[in-house]
Amino acid sequence: MEGTDSDGILGILSERAIKFLDDSTEEALPERFIVPRNENLSFEDFGGYPDIASRARELIELPLKYHDALNEIGARPIKGVLFSGPSGTGKTLLARIIANHADAVFYAINGPEVLSKWYGQSEEIIRRIFEDAKKRERAIIFFDEIDSLATQRSDESHEASRRVVGQLLALMDGFSSDTNVMILGTTNRPQDVDSALRRPGRFDWHIDFPIPTKRDREVILTTSGRKLRLTKDMPHLWVADRTESWTPAELAAIWTEAALLAVSDGRRALLPEDYIGGYERVAKQRMEPRG
Ligand SMILES: Nc1ncnc2c1ncn2[C@@H]1O[C@H](COP(=O)(O)OP(=O)(O)OP(=O)(O)O)[C@@H](O)[C@H]1O
Ligand SMILES: [Mg+2]
Repeated sequence: MEGTDSDGILGILSERAIKFLDDSTEEALPERFIVPRNENLSFEDFGGYPDIASRARELIELPLKYHDALNEIGARPIKGVLFSGPSGTGKTLLARIIANHADAVFYAINGPEVLSKWYGQSEEIIRRIFEDAKKRERAIIFFDEIDSLATQRSDESHEASRRVVGQLLALMDGFSSDTNVMILGTTNRPQDVDSALRRPGRFDWHIDFPIPTKRDREVILTTSGRKLRLTKDMPHLWVADRTESWTPAELAAIWTEAALLAVSDGRRALLPEDYIGGYERVAKQRMEPRG
């Protein structure tokens, strides 16, 4: 299913009455987007891709931590970092881990949600979040699936999206040297993110999440199974050998299928045969056409 068809969403929602914020929600608004810390999520949950994890920390955590030092050196500030790559490669996961780890207030904005749930108020919400973030010592504003919010402003592109892009551009350009805010976006359709947003001084830093290599797959399999109750050594290499072109999300799904096989067999821990059975099930699903 195509989950980010914003045109489709807008087509339906534009027929609805636009709700305005009332006074009670007004005060609390930016806080609603702050992500609380989750003790159960850490860099250990992000398997494989060692360069991506360290590059992300370098581009996001270092500039926030050494904001003043970088200012003194006179370096051009890093304002926006874009994670791109196919669906299921762990972009949202890594952002969530960074939220837990970075010593910064983390606001998460889901592109499709902010357009649908708050249709007609998206720009106002974004503006308030930026205002709130600027007051913090360090802050990260995260736009998940930013392509749904900031598509190319072509003639046919929707008016709401056009205004959101304009708003984002103005807000990012309006950062002063005191502003210690990093903007992070994810997309699996980088070509759909408005090109003005990709220009220098905006989202000009990219991290690409590729399809994992065999070595990555082995680590992702180990990582995504590490909290499960396993009876014996598991044949990670055997599975990694057979999962060329699989995404991390598909690899992680093997464990869910394996657990279903184990419980339906009356067990409370996984055997290697459950793991292999899980692999076979996901492999079969992958072969079936989607729709
Ligand atoms: N590097 C990884 N290590 C372990 N598990 C992973 C990894 N990447 C992804 N996963 C698993 O896949 C799931 C989906 O990943 P995620 O939602 O981050 O993908 P995404 O790149 O944001 O996809 P989309 O573009 O569709 O939003 C995660 O919740 C996790 O279970
Ligand atoms: Mg995602």
